[in-house]
Amino acid sequence: MTVQTRQPKFFPKQSGNKIAKGAQAGDFQKINSGAVKTIYAKIVANQEGALEVDSTRVLYMSNTLLGRMELNEEVEKADEIRKILKKKIGTAESHIQTDLVRKGEAVEAPKAIGDLDDYIKKSNLSLSDRIDIAYQVVLGMQNMQKAGYVTGDAKLENILVFREKGRIIVRISDFGKARELAENGISYVNGNPRFTSPEGVLSYKGEVFSTALMILRILEESLDPALCRKLTVAIKKGASTIERRGVEGLLLRNGRKNKKGIAGQLGYLGRYAIDKMTSILSLKQAKQEENILHRHIDALCNRYFTKSFADTPKNRTVLHLFALLKDMTRADPNKRPSMEEVQSRYKKSFTRSQTVAASKRKPTRARHKAFDASKPRPIRTPQLMRTRSLPT
Ligand SMILES: Nc1ncnc2c1ncn2[C@@H]1O[C@H](COP(=O)(O)OP(=O)(O)O)[C@@H](O)[C@H]1O
Ligand SMILES: [Mg+2]
Repeated sequence: MTVQTRQPKFFPKQSGNKIAKGAQAGDFQKINSGAVKTIYAKIVANQEGALEVDSTRVLYMSNTLLGRMELNEEVEKADEIRKILKKKIGTAESHIQTDLVRKGEAVEAPKAIGDLDDYIKKSNLSLSDRIDIAYQVVLGMQNMQKAGYVTGDAKLENILVFREKGRIIVRISDFGKARELAENGISYVNGNPRFTSPEGVLSYKGEVFSTALMILRILEESLDPALCRKLTVAIKKGASTIERRGVEGLLLRNGRKNKKGIAGQLGYLGRYAIDKMTSILSLKQAKQEENILHRHIDALCNRYFTKSFADTPKNRTVLHLFALLKDMTRADPNKRPSMEEVQSRYKKSFTRSQTVAASKRKPTRARHKAFDASKPRPIRTPQLMRTRSLPT
């Protein structure tokens, strides 16, 4: 007697946790998609026999040949990064999602609860939670460089959020545009220009700039949600509209492009088509952008001192962080700190001060007055930051 095995069906139109009509256990349904991949999760029967979406693994698939090639390369890059980091950091959490397994033309990965772009909009995340999440992003970005790689497309949609033993862990994912690069090397930009550095070339210092934008997005959603809404830019994407909030909206309003230029679209071929990289912004524009960004950082800092937070980090932590963000977003890449310095300064800022309860946090009258002005006041670099960095 032969056992009939049914080929699984794929439901590409169904999204989310609602099971597609006619689906059976073993089928797959789409849970999300990016520019290259479609993400499917298996439909399984639970103990009561009801169908639900598997919460442990996902399958990545691509419709195009180029997409499948990119997916294949992603597995290779993830393996390589994992191997190097095993030697360099041992079994420590890398904050990089390198667990990719080939399954025929598809690739299997652990299922996340979502991406960070969506997750940071949750209003129940305290500022301290956000400072912790942003630090995990820094660790992931630093580990990419420790492995000799740049992400090439650092943005919150490419960072996955996992809940493990009750704790939120974020990991860098999507190595489609990731590539090996020497510490002082430069390469062409093929990722989304929204998050790339103004000089328009991919480099270690360029990734420092992108990391600052990600940190700003994570923090500003709690510091000033009204400002995030005000700066939002709506972008038409096919039939739907996507929103670019906060600092992303701010940059788009001030000359940043949302779409890749011709060189970016050409991808690998672009490397040969353009010999010398042309920057995304001219030097003058980059300097203007620096001013705009720094004013935004000052405004967020002022907001911190005028708003009371339920769970508030010490003032000094926040001052250090904002001063660090300003250094990371300098127009001149040579003036930005290295990712290693970023990580050590970030860590130093909050290991010096634990969070304190809101009731205990009474800003002095002088400070309160100082930050009450409606115009953003520039942040003075705290004295501590001029001291030598501690080893990491
Ligand atoms: N392992 C996963 N678990 C849950 N959601 C995921 C997972 N991987 C990706 N996603 C979601 O799908 C989106 C697209 O995935 P991504 O790897 O970035 O593909 P692309 O290369 O097409 O950009 C992500 O932004 C995220 O929202
Ligand atoms: Mg992506």
